[in-house]
Amino acid sequence: MIAPSILSADFARLADEAAAVAGDPGGDAAGGPSGADWLHVDVMDAHFVPNLTLGLPVVESLRAATDIPLDCHLMISDPDRWAPGYAEAGAHNVTVHVEAAKDPVMLARNLRAAGSLAGLSVKPNTPLEPYVELLREYDTLLVMSVEPGFGGQSFIPEVLDKVRTARRLVDTGHLKLIVEIDGGINADTISQAAEAGVDCFVAGSAVYGAEDPGRAVAALRDTVTRANPHRWNG
Ligand code: DX5
Ligand code: ZN
Repeated sequence: MIAPSILSADFARLADEAAAVAGDPGGDAAGGPSGADWLHVDVMDAHFVPNLTLGLPVVESLRAATDIPLDCHLMISDPDRWAPGYAEAGAHNVTVHVEAAKDPVMLARNLRAAGSLAGLSVKPNTPLEPYVELLREYDTLLVMSVEPGFGGQSFIPEVLDKVRTARRLVDTGHLKLIVEIDGGINADTISQAAEAGVDCFVAGSAVYGAEDPGRAVAALRDTVTRANPHRWNG
């Protein structure tokens, strides 16, 4: 799956920017998926991270403006209090940071009860091992491959060890998770992430910094398919 991040889009034209990556409802020429699978929405509070973006009212409006499932990545303090509101607003997946959550088990249950998938994110220096049991409560794992806060940073390849660990746990049946990666994903870095076992690739500047965001999504998908044809062609 490809999840363009609107962090690199024009915030005054979000509905158009979503439409630019929506693709063709009939699929691509080969009948495969066309356009973005999820739209990644970075919520930052200038407290958990040193940047401020958008919040619930914008997510509610975006939900009404596009059919692309919203993948809300909450880089905020006190997600226990605020995250379920994003699920109630119709987000498809709501991801919280393990470094910020006070009761991540209860939080996952509250998110699912409110109707979304529950996602857990780890910053580049946060290990995975202490949270393996906790991940049984979650549907998605977002491995950050840059320090959260800003788009356009360089990919940190060391985080791929966590992707490989998660992939193994999923493939051996210990966990049931969508493995997502976020930060510095572009035409040069996406293959190594695909080979490590990522299911869902977030890309901000590589999509919205391109002349044609829709084509950029298609190009990233092609590269993933080439990197691991067996896995991605079923
Ligand atoms: C960064 C955000 C990312 C960001 C990625 O904190 O979580 O989703 O948009 O941007 P790129 O793809 O430019 O690294
Ligand atoms: Zn993000």
